[in-house]
Amino acid sequence: MTTRRIHLLFRLSVVAVLTLGAGRVIVDSSRNSHSMWPSSSMLLEWTTGRRYTTAVPIDVSVDEEIEEGCNVFQGSWIRDNESFPLYGEESCPFLVKQTTCVRNGRSDSFYQNWRWQPDACDLPRFDGMKLVEMLRNKRLMFVGDSVQRGMFESMICLVHSALPPVVRRSLHRIPPRKVFRVEEFNASIEYYWAPFLIESISDHATNHTVMKRLVKLDSIAKHSKEWEGADVLIFESYIWWMYKPTINAMYGSLDNVQEYNVTTAYRLAMETWANWVDSRINPETQKIFFATMSPTHLWSWEWKPRTDGNCFSETHPIEGPYWGTGSNLDIMGIVEDVLGRLKVNITVLNITQLSEYRKDGHPSIFGERKGKLLTKEQRSDPKNYADCIHWCLPGVPDTWNEIFYALLLQDYRDQSII
Ligand SMILES: *[C@@H]1O[C@H](CO)[C@@H](O)[C@H](O)[C@H]1NC(C)=O
Ligand SMILES: *[C@@H]1O[C@H](CO)[C@@H](O)[C@H](O)[C@H]1NC(C)=O
Ligand SMILES: *[C@@H]1O[C@H](CO)[C@@H](O)[C@H](O)[C@H]1NC(C)=O
Ligand SMILES: *[C@@H]1O[C@H](CO)[C@@H](O)[C@H](O)[C@H]1NC(C)=O
Ligand SMILES: *[C@@H]1O[C@H](CO)[C@@H](O)[C@H](O)[C@H]1NC(C)=O
Ligand SMILES: *[C@@H]1O[C@H](CO)[C@@H](O)[C@H](O)[C@H]1NC(C)=O
Repeated sequence: MTTRRIHLLFRLSVVAVLTLGAGRVIVDSSRNSHSMWPSSSMLLEWTTGRRYTTAVPIDVSVDEEIEEGCNVFQGSWIRDNESFPLYGEESCPFLVKQTTCVRNGRSDSFYQNWRWQPDACDLPRFDGMKLVEMLRNKRLMFVGDSVQRGMFESMICLVHSALPPVVRRSLHRIPPRKVFRVEEFNASIEYYWAPFLIESISDHATNHTVMKRLVKLDSIAKHSKEWEGADVLIFESYIWWMYKPTINAMYGSLDNVQEYNVTTAYRLAMETWANWVDSRINPETQKIFFATMSPTHLWSWEWKPRTDGNCFSETHPIEGPYWGTGSNLDIMGIVEDVLGRLKVNITVLNITQLSEYRKDGHPSIFGERKGKLLTKEQRSDPKNYADCIHWCLPGVPDTWNEIFYALLLQDYRDQSII
């Protein structure tokens, strides 16, 4: 298969699913009653009628620690219909229709029943009460594109399902941000739209298209001033770069627009971002994470030779070693290189390999296009209309958050930042 073909297909698929309409917005304030009991010490506080006004030290038990030397990103998917999914699609009012695959008509929900099992240790069970206690009087912010927005939505659903009904929570849209607040804890979990991290003409929260890209490789201040007040930040940027192998970009002078190779442009953008991190982040009070590329499953011949489909109708993860051509190794190398040279310590959430196995986890034809569910005609044409980029929820991003949570808990215990 030639590289040319890959780029062309990538291009069509990306256009199909990254073009948004307005009206995908939820502004919601809810006191939902579909809550599970919290498993942490906070349950006691609540049942005795107290509000969550005083900080409670979080008890991190030995079996919640990540064993020394364990690479949590190396492991396998285990079928687990007892503990998973961690919340119900119907019980989380904050999900947008891009991700509610079963509600949109997907008939198999197998993809919701998988647990990520690292080879060398166990992950702690996600405890939403411990998470909001760690975030007391703090702001956690997810920054990136619509894949990152899926991770944000997964996180607020995980937290929502763990909070007792009396705890007030709300989701507000303040473009390009979305802010989820848990009042009693004065905790915020936020999302900030910045598909390239640096400034671009695609920065409007809803009015943007991947077909017209122009990035400003050395400009970040417009966004970064909004990030500086956050206590925990998690960044991600990939798919918008991959629409074509070249991109229009400015560097220095505003009237000097040139076509750059994406790899060159990506490196320059990451360096701009890295300079900001090194000059403006206080490692004593702030904590930074970077999530690596989320894989796509656009060509079924990669895991099933001599086929000509995509993620459509896939119901099981890939077994054994697998790395698709959609996860660009040059980009991965640049991320590794730039992050490795930072002065500030940051944590890499290397979710690429574990997500590579999950060809079954995408919305496929049960997603949306331009803010609308697919029509019957579009559904009968998965080759052109399947979304093999985003992820159904509950689903794969819940695992990213379980790992993220485990790392935050580790940090908390080590008394480093939060
Ligand atoms: C879970 O899976 C087991 C074995 O695959 C099956 O026997 C059981 O009925 C399933 N439980 C549910 C709730 O689906
Ligand atoms: C509430 O949290 C914000 C940060 O999100 C912090 O600046 C503020 O001081 C907190 N309020 C109180 C009363 O602690
Ligand atoms: C979207 O942005 C384009 C270019 O920036 C502008 O011409 C157009 O009017 C905008 N559309 C809406 C609905 O705001
Ligand atoms: C852009 O990439 C192409 C193909 O990889 C390469 O031949 C070319 O030299 C690159 N150009 C620049 C300016 O880096
Ligand atoms: C992420 O993990 C892969 C192996 O799964 C590795 O090749 C890559 O270098 C890692 N990336 C970073 C940024 O550490
Ligand atoms: C960064 O992390 C490493 C390993 O966790 C640690 O040894 C080092 O002291 C940290 N550096 C700073 C500046 O915190």
